[in-house]
Amino acid sequence: MKRVITYGTFDLFHYGHLRLLERAKAMGDYLIVAVSTDEFNRIKNKHCVYPYIERAAIVRAIKYVDEVIPEETWEQKASDVIKHGVDLFVIGDDWQGEFDFLKEYCQVHYLERTPNISSTEIKGDIRDGKG
Ligand code: CTP
Repeated sequence: MKRVITYGTFDLFHYGHLRLLERAKAMGDYLIVAVSTDEFNRIKNKHCVYPYIERAAIVRAIKYVDEVIPEETWEQKASDVIKHGVDLFVIGDDWQGEFDFLKEYCQVHYLERTPNISSTEIKGDIRDGKG
């Protein structure tokens, strides 16, 4: 069984998120998604509309997702890979090259982002009355 892991904030769950999770699952058999906690978002200076408990519940309900874990630090990735017996780490190519250090522990693959959509853009569009 090939185990895949990915990380993200997943605020205002959108089509780009869905496509990322669909392709991540298609690359293996079991998909673990680490969702950024509210505390970690504060460290990243990221402001979410939905709290962790709701973002995690939405991601957990997606049919491609087998397990959700909290993402609490930048440093946890290598230990998550080992602890969960992960074979493949995937993330969008906005992070191209950033997680190559994980190649010591598992395969690393960057997936092409879905164009023209992001949580930040949605928030901006609504703020500007375009939503
Ligand atoms: N993602 C994607 N295509 C998009 C948006 C996101 O493939 N259009 C991917 C990201 O590359 C990441 C995952 O979805 O692997 C979670 O990304 P996240 O940062 O939560 O989504 P964004 O919409 O980019 O959020 P933000 O605008 O807050 O950065």
